[in-house]
Amino acid sequence: MAQKVALKHSLPSQLMHFTLLVTWFGLAITGFGVYFGWVSDATAAAFMRWHVYFGAVLTFATLAYAIFAFDRAVYFLKEIFTWDRDTWLWWTNLGGYPYKFLKIGSPKTYPQSKYNAGQKFYAILVVFTVLLVIVTGWSLYYFPQALGKYWAALFFNLHVWVTLFVTLFMLFVHVPLALIMFTDFKAMFRFGAGYVPMEYAEEHSPKWAEKLVPVAEVEAERAARRGKGAGVAPQA
Ligand code: HEM
Repeated sequence: MAQKVALKHSLPSQLMHFTLLVTWFGLAITGFGVYFGWVSDATAAAFMRWHVYFGAVLTFATLAYAIFAFDRAVYFLKEIFTWDRDTWLWWTNLGGYPYKFLKIGSPKTYPQSKYNAGQKFYAILVVFTVLLVIVTGWSLYYFPQALGKYWAALFFNLHVWVTLFVTLFMLFVHVPLALIMFTDFKAMFRFGAGYVPMEYAEEHSPKWAEKLVPVAEVEAERAARRGKGAGVAPQA
C-alpha cells in the first residue's frame, strides 16, 4: 500500500546526533568519574586523557556540522528558536502527555511545529551547553593560568554543573520519551532513512507537516526494503 512519508532527520543530522550521543556518554563517564572520585588515581589520569579526546571529537563534529551541513544547522536553529503562542500554551498541560499516560491535567493539544515546546527547550539547552563546554573546556585545558582564579573557578563550575543538569535531563526525560515515541526513534537511528509516516507528522507536528511539499508517493514496503525513499521535500 502506498504511504506518504516525511523526512524528519537528514543523514548529516542523524550523524551529528549519534556523535553527540557517543561523545556525551564518553565525556560524562570520564568527567564525572574523575570529579566525584569514583575511580583510582591511575584510572583518573587515563579518564582525563579520554575526556580530552572525546571533547576533541565533539568540537570537530560540531564545527563540521555547522560548516558542511550549514543549511541543516540553520534550519534546526530557526526551528528551536521559533516560539509562537501554541509553543507557550504547550507548557500549560505539557502537550497533554501527563493526561495521555497518567490521566493528570487536560487532554487539550496545541498544534506544534517540527519539535514541540519541550523538545525546543531541551534542544536550546543542548546547543548552549555544547558551546559552553567547548569554550570552557579548551580554555581550562590550554590556558587556565591566563584565566585567573575567578574565571577559572567559574568556567570549571559551569563546566561541571551545567553538564550534570543536562545529563540528568537527557537520561531521565529525553531518552525515556525518545523510546516511547518509537516512530521518532526509528527516524533518528535508521541512518539515511530518517522518515516518519505523513499521518504521524500531521498528528504530532501539524505546523511542520502542512508546510511540506509532496514530491512523490512511495510504497512503504519498497522504501523500507531499500532503506530509503522520498515522500516529501526534505525539510528535515
Ligand atoms: C541513548 C541516548 C539517546 C537517544 C535514544 C536519543 C533519541 C533521540 C530521538 C529519537 C530524537 C528525535 C526526536 C524527534 O524526532 O522528535 C532525538 C533528538 C534530539 N536529541 Fe537525542 N537521544 C539520545 C541522546 C542524546 C544526547 C546525549 C543528547 C545531547 C546531550 C541529545 C540531544 C538531542 C537533541 C538536541 C535533539 C533534538 C531535539 C529533541 O528532539 O528533543 N540526545 N534524540
